[in-house]
Amino acid sequence: MAAPRHSCLFVLSSAAEGVSASSFLQAYNLVSPNCTVQLASPNGKNIEYVKQDESNRRWFNEFRAKASSTPIGLETVDPARYATVFIPAAPGAVHDLLKNQDLAQIISHFVREKKPLCAVGMGVAGLFGAKKDNGSWWFEDYSLTGPSVFEEARHAEFASLPVIPEDFIKEHGGQYSSSEPDAIHVIIDRHVITGQNVQSTIMAVQNLILMSTQKSGKTAPLR
Ligand SMILES: *[C@@H]1O[C@H](CO)[C@@H](O)[C@H](O)[C@H]1NC(C)=O
Ligand SMILES: *[C@@H]1O[C@H](CO)[C@@H](O)[C@H](O)[C@H]1NC(C)=O
Repeated sequence: MAAPRHSCLFVLSSAAEGVSASSFLQAYNLVSPNCTVQLASPNGKNIEYVKQDESNRRWFNEFRAKASSTPIGLETVDPARYATVFIPAAPGAVHDLLKNQDLAQIISHFVREKKPLCAVGMGVAGLFGAKKDNGSWWFEDYSLTGPSVFEEARHAEFASLPVIPEDFIKEHGGQYSSSEPDAIHVIIDRHVITGQNVQSTIMAVQNLILMSTQKSGKTAPLR
């Protein structure tokens, strides 16, 4: 008998700076066989998948032809319907997800319910707006990773970034850690999984899948 399919929410930046094509594609291919993936973006605006290359351009052309590639608006999302939430690496996330109140509500729901949530690279900025009723950041006592100052400083847009994830996490009480630039580095704290950069996507998402199957009790019987 087929196991029941979960629904997984992918939260995507629709800012011009875009979503990392490889981070999105790797996560989508890992999650979609076992999970109904719903894409959502601010106001349901279209997504720019950046840094496509020869190996994935064709995949994106085919993907865009499918109805499921059209995001719904974050403001229409009922978070109770989703088992997991994932935010891929996205240079645009600091521009539109950072202060999005609909996303803040969704993330707050996931923290209250302790449901698996995962963010990678700049996508981690999508967690920054979620606050407790008393105004503190939800993740003030969590261990997290995200792009390091050192990693970000290599990019031309560094000087104009609205927020530096490493600084934000440290200044708001979170435990920040990172590895060397472009290294695979994933932190798991309770139900929250963060990956430092695009390169950490697969490791982070594998852990998200593992966590969601454990949570639903879909473990194989002992022999
Ligand atoms: C995903 O689905 C396949 C086929 O239904 C199943 O064999 C596999 O164990 C599932 N993986 C997870 C992680 O649930
Ligand atoms: C908010 O509540 C948490 C406990 O849930 C506490 O640790 C934190 O210090 C409080 N923040 C403020 C600003 O009162």
